[in-house]
Amino acid sequence: MPATILVGLQWGDEGKGRVADWLAAESDVVARSSGGDNAGHTVYANDIVFKLHQMPSGILHQRVTCVLGNGVVLNPVNLLREMEELIANGVEVTPERVVISTRAHIITPAHIALDKASEQARGGGAIGTTLRGIGPAYMDKTGRRGLRAGLMADPEAFADALYQHIEAANVTLAAEGGETLDPHASATAYVDAAARLKPFLKDTSLYINSRLKTGGRVLCEGAQGTMLDIDHGDYPFVTSSSPTAGGALTGLGFGPLQVDRVVGVAKAFSTRVGSGPMPTELEGELAARLRGTGENFWDEFGTTTGRPRRCGWLDTVLLRYTTQVNGCTELVLTKLDVLSGFEALKIAYAFDVDGERVEFPPTTVAELERAQPIYQTLPGWQEDLSAVRRWGDLPDATRAYIERVAELCQTPIRTVSVGPEREQLVHL
Ligand code: IMP
Repeated sequence: MPATILVGLQWGDEGKGRVADWLAAESDVVARSSGGDNAGHTVYANDIVFKLHQMPSGILHQRVTCVLGNGVVLNPVNLLREMEELIANGVEVTPERVVISTRAHIITPAHIALDKASEQARGGGAIGTTLRGIGPAYMDKTGRRGLRAGLMADPEAFADALYQHIEAANVTLAAEGGETLDPHASATAYVDAAARLKPFLKDTSLYINSRLKTGGRVLCEGAQGTMLDIDHGDYPFVTSSSPTAGGALTGLGFGPLQVDRVVGVAKAFSTRVGSGPMPTELEGELAARLRGTGENFWDEFGTTTGRPRRCGWLDTVLLRYTTQVNGCTELVLTKLDVLSGFEALKIAYAFDVDGERVEFPPTTVAELERAQPIYQTLPGWQEDLSAVRRWGDLPDATRAYIERVAELCQTPIRTVSVGPEREQLVHL
């Protein structure tokens, strides 16, 4: 089993962190291939809640080497802070355990300022980004004027390139009505962080390929979700990368024949942060029940931004599409425990778009905004699932819900989660 790709099938926040943590236990390398610190992967291990933004969840497994691949955009200051927090919690973070691609792109203070300015300029049409500078960093990458992580190997050259980049960005910032930056003052922390990250730099594509050749097992830990994919998501309310199985290969630099397992993670209901269509969105009491109060770390509030997430019934029209886009070989359904106590549960299995019944999501936002979900109602269950560890111990209604989702997605569900702790998984 050389490589496994783990992807989110909704709008992110599917619980990929805890699934990655489980799969990391049987992996030698865990790699991030896209996105940056817009991600927030929560892992609850040894009574500590780890909120990882850039570091792969594999860091919590001693034998695993973590890779930040060429497809990621990285904020050196925030990455260093995350590394220090891990070290403070007893996790070993050394160049033997963490490698950063020289081809990854750097998120700069100018990218963060540009993200803010462009969101402000969009007014009511704002995307609701995480304001981490993700979009502007990828724009500079595709515009062929970005700063690659490899530059950090030469701190002086890195500092010069950063100053020039900030000066150039100031012109755009001024034109967009944003606040311009003092190149030197805003770059200081970045230059310091770059010097400290230098020992971690490597050609990670060569590294991953060499591990695969010697029988190493690689887990690609996806970030965000397929509905946020720049091509397959509901553009323009998407992120600026490809958090899909295809993106994992480009973002890490190895070939498709190495992959024999694509695990898609979906939450047992729908959530979304930021703007954009969400056909099964609920308001009022039902939404509040799904969201939780925010007292627990697993409630539906953004790990990165703290924003309350929009909540709704499970949408298998989208899931049917996203399982195909990724070629999922199996699914994991998370947060099933949250559905305990509902009288009845609804699952969207088709949409009505302008009087026409469709099985797959329309490709324009305008049509998706008009899509009326067609629901099947299933009986709920009252039992607390948190202590269940075996398929046979799940209530009949829970098993029926899982089986129906698998049928609608045309993909087997092999694992469900019934709580935030490592062991709260049921394997089918
Ligand atoms: P950006 O990635 O910060 O540019 O944000 C673009 C869109 O993706 C916004 O709707 C964000 O809320 C959403 N987004 C980005 N990263 C995540 C994530 O890790 N989880 C959930 N939503 C995300």
